Amino acid sequence: MSERPKVGIIVGSTRPVRVGRPVADELVALLEDAGAEAIMLDLAELRLPLLDEALPPASGVRTEPHTIAWAERIEALDGVVFVTPDYNSGYPAALKNAIDYLKHEWVGKPAAVVSYGWAGGRSAAAQLTAVLAYIGLDLQGEGVQMAFEPTDFDESMRMVDAAAFVGRSIEGLRELAQQVVAASAAERVAV
Ligand SMILES: Cc1cc2nc3c(=O)[nH]c(=O)nc-3n(C[C@H](O)[C@H](O)[C@H](O)COP(=O)(O)O)c2cc1C
Repeated sequence: MSERPKVGIIVGSTRPVRVGRPVADELVALLEDAGAEAIMLDLAELRLPLLDEALPPASGVRTEPHTIAWAERIEALDGVVFVTPDYNSGYPAALKNAIDYLKHEWVGKPAAVVSYGWAGGRSAAAQLTAVLAYIGLDLQGEGVQMAFEPTDFDESMRMVDAAAFVGRSIEGLRELAQQVVAASAAERVAV
């Protein structure tokens, strides 16, 4: 068994060309540097259907193979970082769907939110933080809000240099990674 705490990174955007994935890739490196085993949970790859369980997640009943697999992935984590864009002043439907599948698997898990958008994705972060607090995750810090600049995008609205964009927030991301790893390690010992 790994000595390192397992920290998941949930990539909340699912578009074929995304800012979310390079942000998450950087988080893998930072979490590993901070002593974690980082586990990428990319919703674009996991392709969860829209919630299709007959009973609500609080029942604890998980019947569909994809629900059981998702529950096992989350249960195996000591902590989790959510990476979300701002879509129309909120966070993506795919992310809400993935969260809504489960209940007790989330409760008490150390978590942090990384958001991005023109105002750092602050509306998405606020919504997501409220939902995670409602469910009972153990939120760490204020999260990191990564703000776009006009020069980040070309005329077709594609990001020009994702590494430069991520680099502007590297100190905040490193701090967040260290905070989540410390809380996840404490959670792991406490279990
Ligand atoms: C459906 C949609 C809605 C968007 N709405 C907002 C918004 O309300 N605020 C904002 O700052 N950016 C908004 N954007 C721009 C996104 O922040 C930007 O496209 C970002 O790259 C999306 O994240 P992703 O590349 O990981 O999908 C929106 C983008 C999409 C696709």
